[in-house]
Amino acid sequence: MAIRQHFNPRPDDLFLISFPKSGTTWLKALAFATMTRTHYPLDRHPLLSLNPHDVVPFMDDLFVAGQASKLEALPSPRILATHMPYFLLPDSITGSGCRIIYICCDPKDVVVSLWHFSAKASAAKGRECFPFDKFFEMACEGDFPYSPIWDHSLQYWKESLRRSEKVLFLKYEEMLEEPAANVKRLAEFLGCPLSEEEEKEGVVEEIISLCSFEKLKSLDANKKGSQGIAVFKVANASFFRKGGIGDWRNHASPEMAQKLDGIVREKLEGSGLTI
Ligand code: A3P
Repeated sequence: MAIRQHFNPRPDDLFLISFPKSGTTWLKALAFATMTRTHYPLDRHPLLSLNPHDVVPFMDDLFVAGQASKLEALPSPRILATHMPYFLLPDSITGSGCRIIYICCDPKDVVVSLWHFSAKASAAKGRECFPFDKFFEMACEGDFPYSPIWDHSLQYWKESLRRSEKVLFLKYEEMLEEPAANVKRLAEFLGCPLSEEEEKEGVVEEIISLCSFEKLKSLDANKKGSQGIAVFKVANASFFRKGGIGDWRNHASPEMAQKLDGIVREKLEGSGLTI
């Protein structure tokens, strides 16, 4: 409600949006590195000393904490992040021509990642997290903040079909499979396409390497410190747990996976979206 009532978007704002634990940190790093590549040499880039969440603020948390004025102080073009579903975005954002990049991920991996993350956030508050089976069931019921996962992705998917010049829809798995093609796509969407010369100089590979899971996880900035002022408070290291895809196999039974896959398939039927 606070965002809807008080946020003043600028036409050149860029929003990075995701359901929690779908690859937000990686998208923040990639978008920021791509957009700022001519401002900082990639071997002395701010991402080497700052967590990706420090360079792309999480609007939801700042508004809950009453620190929204920090967003006003940022120079344009701003890169901002939110987990809000499309239908909750204020008209001032959806109607203003601001660009949106959305990332989605296999809901089964999202649930696993979120369970580990919630366990750490709960532990930090001295609370216990739900057992995994219960947590998974809650995901199937759409019983999480920002849920259901499939609705969240579907709304942005539809908007990306309707307004492809303003809404870019990415998939975590495709980015892992073809990082170079996706960085180029990102750069084009951001209005700063990679030149032939940059491609020859290996800039795409440098961005991918700077933002890789292994690189970011190894940096002091991501081993120490924490994120979150209101919605959650967790160590920076919590954002770099395992990386990759398919960890759901180590947590969910085939029956559990089948159930969630079935729900997602049914809900997305006819949309052209598969996640
Ligand atoms: P796991 O918990 O499965 O390891 P988010 O950034 O939205 O919170 O998503 C978190 C997931 O993205 C985590 O998954 C995390 O490991 C993974 N991740 C973080 N940084 C990444 C990077 N640079 N490249 C690929 N995956 C990354």
